[in-house]
Amino acid sequence: MNDGVHAVAWTYGALTLLDQRRLPGETVYLRIDDVDGAIDAIRDMVVRGAPAIGIAAAYGAVLAARAAWRAYGAGWKGPWEADLERLAGARPTAVNLVWAVRRMRHLGLDLPDDQDPEPALLDEARAIHAEDLAANLRMGELGAALVDSRCGVLTHCNAGALATGGYGTALGVIRSAWKEGKIERVYADETRPWLQGARLTAWELLQDGIPVTLLADGAAAWLMKQGRVGWVIVGADRIAANGDVANKIGTYALALAARRHGVRFMVVAPTSTIDLSLASGEDIPIEERPADEVLELGGKRVAAAGAEAWNPAFDVTPAELVDAIVTERGVLVHPVHECLVDLMQD
Ligand code: MRU
Repeated sequence: MNDGVHAVAWTYGALTLLDQRRLPGETVYLRIDDVDGAIDAIRDMVVRGAPAIGIAAAYGAVLAARAAWRAYGAGWKGPWEADLERLAGARPTAVNLVWAVRRMRHLGLDLPDDQDPEPALLDEARAIHAEDLAANLRMGELGAALVDSRCGVLTHCNAGALATGGYGTALGVIRSAWKEGKIERVYADETRPWLQGARLTAWELLQDGIPVTLLADGAAAWLMKQGRVGWVIVGADRIAANGDVANKIGTYALALAARRHGVRFMVVAPTSTIDLSLASGEDIPIEERPADEVLELGGKRVAAAGAEAWNPAFDVTPAELVDAIVTERGVLVHPVHECLVDLMQD
């Protein structure tokens, strides 16, 4: 089974990350052997995508525990918890990060104080990683089954193997539907300002031999108007209890355009992305990133001198614009609060 490229791995006792800032030009792996390195890598977009940053943080928690055990012995838990808090705060929107750190914390605090915590924590981080890959493979099947007639699909940002433990969420569905011959063409928004679509999604699909057509983000509504797309398929960074979906900036505009043009809108995300503690998308913290990311291109200023920029990294699509949420536990059609709660209780 080809689950795509590997963005996150644990090799030779350290966290190994494919540096996604340098793709597609260079394939460079970074070895991270302390928690500060993991925090910096998440904040600086070496690793990105909601599930992938959760997995990287889980391995980061192992590194933090190793250092705390070496420095403090049986007193390791206090300093470790302080590190976990910093790790969970590395990026604010994707709830998978907090979810993974909480899961590691829960396991770690249950361990005897005088036992080296690394082996048990490493097993847990590996389990988080393996479960994410399994969830993606399952979502691939479930989402592909929704594509009922051969059509073009449009995706945004990168919700592929690079953004997850492997195979991808939205790109997992696209991979599966492609294999089943259901997709005429994959369209990918370039995804300003980080160009995850142009740099990462296009690269990842081409590695699998899946042809891809890129478009400027502003061209998406016009593509839909021409009848070239049957489904918009995207991932998510956090889904609130009422089904509102936070995802890469530009997703909301796609959902509005899709509804206007009769194009269906699918969100693909593991249950680790669902946050029942937030009643609606209004409560989801939206990361704002530095203005330079908009004012510059490839490190070179392109905006007029004196112009300012607003750079929200995510937006929230209201549940009423979502036709289906695909999770590893099942598909919610026209998601509403009650079905999300039921899904999480199963
Ligand atoms: O800023 P990024 O690149 O981390 O944003 C990623 C996205 O918005 C993805 O669509 C989302 O995390 C889903 S990844 C399976």
